[in-house]
Amino acid sequence: MDRFTSPWGELDLTRFPDEPREQLRAFDAADAYALRHLAGDPGPAPTAGHPVAAEDTARRPLVPGARVVVLGDRWGAVTTALAAGVPGLDLTLVTDSYLAGRAAEANLRRNAPQSRVALTTTRDTPPAGADVLVVRVPKSLALLEDQLHRLAPALHAGSTVVGAGMTTEVHTSTLRLFEQLVGPTRTTLAVRKARLILSTPGPAAHRPANPWPLRYALPDGIGPMSGRTVTSHAGVFCADRLDLGTRLMLEHLPRRSGPETVVDLGCGNGVLGTAAALANPACEVLFTDESHQAVASAEDTFRANAPAGAKARFTVGDALADVPPGSVDLVLNNPPFHSHQATTDRAARRMFTGARAALRPGGELWVVANRHLGHHTRLRRLFGTCEVAAATPKFVLLRAVRR
Ligand SMILES: C[S@@+](CC[C@H](N)C(=O)[O-])C[C@H]1O[C@@H](n2cnc3c(N)ncnc32)[C@H](O)[C@@H]1O
Repeated sequence: MDRFTSPWGELDLTRFPDEPREQLRAFDAADAYALRHLAGDPGPAPTAGHPVAAEDTARRPLVPGARVVVLGDRWGAVTTALAAGVPGLDLTLVTDSYLAGRAAEANLRRNAPQSRVALTTTRDTPPAGADVLVVRVPKSLALLEDQLHRLAPALHAGSTVVGAGMTTEVHTSTLRLFEQLVGPTRTTLAVRKARLILSTPGPAAHRPANPWPLRYALPDGIGPMSGRTVTSHAGVFCADRLDLGTRLMLEHLPRRSGPETVVDLGCGNGVLGTAAALANPACEVLFTDESHQAVASAEDTFRANAPAGAKARFTVGDALADVPPGSVDLVLNNPPFHSHQATTDRAARRMFTGARAALRPGGELWVVANRHLGHHTRLRRLFGTCEVAAATPKFVLLRAVRR
């Protein structure tokens, strides 16, 4: 449990899933900076290169009844601080991450049990109006672009728009998006390696069209998905091209037949699970990912390509936590290798242990990954065996059988 001092008081915050041994905090300096700004803290003195206009600090946007939208709160720290500290706000959280949504839910329950916050996802209809928009800058510029497109119509000339990120997350391209899709934009000085982006909503007429979702055709020579079209909503892994690891698995997809349950674990745009459905039309595929954008992409990719009558389910969740033990025949997995939500190893380990529990005896887990990540050792420890099914100089395709 982490103690967080917000401008309005102390909060006890946790990540989701809560793993106390990991010692990763459920808030950071960007969350704290955004909250101090919204509470009216003037922040550091402006300098020539980073002017902060007087009206930015003089404005007190958090009045009772104000419609406040928080986009991309990592663990719910911003939403929870506002819900617990400022009575009467009309608060909406918008997140793409199942893990972030669950963390926010738990933190709100613990710190602001009386509050009524609308917990929504990037796939839901955006709120009709926003007097205050707080954007926790996501790692994915594409997701920011798509979400600013979706939320900009909710803003009005008097809306306060505050973006917050660590300095490593705020780039010229980030500021350009705020400028293009919201209006005139400035940044503040960095405080504890965090920076704020302050935008004033401008006229809608100048906004370009939203380019998301993207559709692209896969190359030939990759098995059943050859030449087929993939749909990617903003923020999904490898949204505009085929990942080389994914390609290796497509080229060496296990040959199977007859009714069985296949899981595309961490499905992204669903290319692996859709290939499995094409290779064995009798199987049922469960597409699952912690990103709402990913699961929506997988559903579009499957519907556009799957054979008539093919069966599939689509769920947003954490690894395989909600799948009954011993119910799965085959798991296909290209695990995450970087994530703002958790350390790399942690996400992959959760997927492997989840897969082991979900597989029936004799069921198989196929993992494609960068060779240097050492998943081979991890899988051998967990499953007792692990063989290399295919390899390139950079990637390995691993097969582990549940005993
Ligand atoms: C390397 S991408 C692979 C995507 C897709 N299977 C492909 O090969 O193109 C890893 C995926 O795992 C998802 N992911 C990360 N952490 C997760 C978790 N705890 N539970 C479920 N999915 C997760 C990410 O959102 C991402 O879509």
